[in-house]
Amino acid sequence: MRAVRREPTARVPVWLMRQAGRYMAEYRDVRKNIGFVELCKTPRLAADVMLTAVDKLGVDAAIIFSDILLVLEPMGMSLTFSAGDGPVLEHPLRTPSDVERITELADVSPLQFVFDVVTETRCGLDQRLPLIGFSGAPFTLAGYMIEGGGSNQFLETKRFMYRYPDAWEKLMGKLTNSLARYLRGQVDAGAQVVQIFDSWVGCLSCGDYSRYVLPATKQLIAQLRDIPTIYFGTGNPELLTLMKQAGSSVIGVDWRIDIAAACERLGNDVAIQGNLDPAILLSEPEIVRNKTLNILRKINGRDGYIFNLGHGILPQTPVENVVTLVETVHGYNVRS
Ligand code: CP3
Repeated sequence: MRAVRREPTARVPVWLMRQAGRYMAEYRDVRKNIGFVELCKTPRLAADVMLTAVDKLGVDAAIIFSDILLVLEPMGMSLTFSAGDGPVLEHPLRTPSDVERITELADVSPLQFVFDVVTETRCGLDQRLPLIGFSGAPFTLAGYMIEGGGSNQFLETKRFMYRYPDAWEKLMGKLTNSLARYLRGQVDAGAQVVQIFDSWVGCLSCGDYSRYVLPATKQLIAQLRDIPTIYFGTGNPELLTLMKQAGSSVIGVDWRIDIAAACERLGNDVAIQGNLDPAILLSEPEIVRNKTLNILRKINGRDGYIFNLGHGILPQTPVENVVTLVETVHGYNVRS
């Protein structure tokens, strides 16, 4: 939390996106008996999955075990995860009238199970470790709603945005207000900081980001003004200075920009998280160690840096490499 506030820390804190997941045998064991969505809706088990991962890795923060797409169910979309194909959202939004059937969550009680995961995880977690709540960002969630699932280019989303700017704005507004209540609910349930995942925002140009995405994102973070926030995006480092304008406490960066350049671009008035390419974790401990040290040296004792990957841990990752990463960060003395 000191790093979030850009205060000095004795060593660099580290946690990893997707630190609990399929790369871990303990997780695969739990998943033999329960589907992914059901697991997310069983607070005791979901909390255990994350606490097990935190214990095994020795990371400095936990993130709740959940998914960005669950909020879309009470908003009126039907969600399934099929093995192999990833998430599927039925009846994707394709016209302005489709936006009318989406409910803005005035009341977030249908997501009580997420708040219960927060509370369960908080109760089982070492007091010194912060718990991170999260949601998708308005753009990334709108993308899933319009595409009906994952996408490489988000062409339907762009078509919708260009063709129906008013309906787009309305959809972004419904998402923004719902997400603000949802994230505040997670903080009330015991989270210390929230991360907003704009995983696919990098498909946009700077101009389109400024016009179609920044206003809603800024508004979301403004509604959370008293809560520490991490805003994470991937794919287009040219967006970073615009993303900073959204006003979060921390910006999450991927690996497509050198960390020294990211620090330079973002300046000293915002904290930074991330940067190691998750594919490096597919290699071997010695390589992981060297690539990790490379980033730490470039950070050069900057206040307000949180070590993380540039995106989530890949399912094929050997656990040994993840442990090496955490040990390397912890063994690095910032002031020497
Ligand atoms: O970081 C963590 O360990 C906490 C849990 C977490 C999950 N999803 C668990 C999960 C978090 C923070 C997320 C966020 C999420 N979900 C994002 C944003 C982060 C990112 O990766 O960009 C996105 C885009 C999603 C949507 C989603 N959920 C996708 C695309 C998939 C993968 C589909 C597939 O099968 O490959 C998921 C499923 C998912 N979310 C799994 C986990 C552990 C795997 C489910 C399983 O099969 O067990």
